[in-house]
Amino acid sequence: MMGAYGVSETVDATPTAAGASVGAAAAAAAAAAAAAGAGAGVAAGSGADPNATLITRGAYLAKAADCAGCHTAAPVPTQPGAAPKLTVPFAGGLGMSSPFGTIYSSNITPDPVNGIGRYTYDDFARALREGIAPGGKRLYPAMPFPSFAKISDDDLHALYAYFMHGVKPAAVPAPETHLPFPFSQRWALMFWDWAFVPGGRYKPEPAHDAQWNRGAYLVQSLGHCGACHTPRGPVYEERGYDGDAHLYLTGGTNDHWFAPNLTGDPGSGLGRISAPELAAFLKHGHGAGLVTFGSMVQVVEDSAQYLSDDDLAAIAAYLKSLPAREPAGHYDGQSRAALQTVQALKTGDVERPGAGIFLSYCARCHQQDGNGVAQKYPRLAGNPAVLGAQTTSLVRLLVEGGGSPKTEDGPPPRKMPEFAGKLTDAEMAAVLTFIRNTWGNAAPPVTTRDVSGVRSAIHK
Ligand code: HEC
Ligand code: HEC
Ligand code: HEC
Repeated sequence: MMGAYGVSETVDATPTAAGASVGAAAAAAAAAAAAAGAGAGVAAGSGADPNATLITRGAYLAKAADCAGCHTAAPVPTQPGAAPKLTVPFAGGLGMSSPFGTIYSSNITPDPVNGIGRYTYDDFARALREGIAPGGKRLYPAMPFPSFAKISDDDLHALYAYFMHGVKPAAVPAPETHLPFPFSQRWALMFWDWAFVPGGRYKPEPAHDAQWNRGAYLVQSLGHCGACHTPRGPVYEERGYDGDAHLYLTGGTNDHWFAPNLTGDPGSGLGRISAPELAAFLKHGHGAGLVTFGSMVQVVEDSAQYLSDDDLAAIAAYLKSLPAREPAGHYDGQSRAALQTVQALKTGDVERPGAGIFLSYCARCHQQDGNGVAQKYPRLAGNPAVLGAQTTSLVRLLVEGGGSPKTEDGPPPRKMPEFAGKLTDAEMAAVLTFIRNTWGNAAPPVTTRDVSGVRSAIHK
């Protein structure tokens, strides 16, 4: 198997082989990769060794693709109050909810029995790009292989080298996925694949410059941003994998989090956010007064924060080039009505439903003028996530509370309290409708039924 890629015994000099833990090895490799900029740079440490360079680059790409985010089980709770037991990176077992049931991720450490240790390079390429594991096992599209199909050959070789030689084998079986019939029939995914997976590598677009193409490549392939941000069709297929598809990145709901429109819509999209602010949002979870929440927190913590500044700038440049599509919501912070409500909120003289709840429960962090506190609490005025076409995320965040991401260079994480025991469904609907229609925000109301629908779906 080593011969399949020709990586020689020189890799024994990697930290993994030297006995360090996987976490330490992965962290060291990632740090080295981050230091190496776009990942194409020089290897850290052993200098001239081409395999070490390849493994380091693979570690960086694994971060960009967030392989660990899906292939590492959630920490196991121990005694109440005690720190939860950490699980082994890449050993799989994370349960992911899909409309068809829970799908468990595989062990992708190089363990020959429980993991992918027996994979040849071709096996690896086929699993990542076509969603077919050795033996012909079709993978569920919870594994984002339709996006990974676009990964370049060079990057796939680096990823393979990393998984075979930079990750420590973990001899733990991942739980098996048991979906109800007919979804249990993996072979039938063949038809899904034929119908919905375009396949093919990323093709650079000559009409755009190198930075744009780098950004498009990262977003469409490794970053698999569309897996959350593109709406899905009736059989869970993403409605497009690049800008040629009208609905690409116009917003999607997965696991009861709505990932907003990333096109140039000035209401609920990125139209009013600059490229440098976007890059900061991806690196630190804070940008343009917005703060990452919901399933995007993990994306920033596990993946985006480790990207080089050049790669983040490329992603931002690409996103900013997407023309406005599927617009929703409006913002005009200078309108007369906007300025009047700000004034009224300051004096507490507001009769509108939800205003009292906002002042009692929310204003201490998000401020009466809705501008939040920089690097701490997000602004709600003009916040595209607040103006979105779907309000699932807003309800879920209010019910469960949340926490901003913990990043290496960003501000310390802050908590948003949960309101499940404090506000009724009607009160939640009123305060959400209020924040969607104050300070110049304008978006359709949230109804009590919207709130109770999300609450029953998330069982909270
Ligand atoms: C969004 C979640 C997600 C991400 C990101 C992800 N995977 Fe997966 N992957 C899965 C799930 C879920 C499965 C199991 C699918 C199934 O059982 O049909 C899987 C299966 C696999 C398999 C098949 C293993 C086997 O033999 O069963 C391989 C190989 C794999 N992933 C590698 C990777 C690599 C490498 C990366 C990063 C480049 C990655 N995955 C990123 C969710 C993910
Ligand atoms: C696991 C699902 C998921 C993936 C994958 C994902 N996102 Fe997100 N994203 C979300 C959710 C949910 C939100 C809404 C919460 C927030 O604003 O932080 C969001 C918000 C955002 C925002 C802020 C939008 C706004 O209007 O406030 C940006 C920018 C963004 N994502 C970019 C990206 C990029 C770029 C990628 C790929 C590298 C990506 N996301 C991948 C789920 C995801
Ligand atoms: C103790 C401070 C605090 C209070 C009180 C609070 N929030 Fe938050 N809020 C936060 C923080 C911190 C975040 C970022 C959450 C995250 O990253 O998960 C946030 C995020 C949000 C967001 C998502 C916007 C974004 O860009 O992240 C909305 C909407 C929101 N809060 C609404 C409310 C409402 C409505 C109330 C009152 C019912 C409220 N908050 C009370 C701290 C607070």
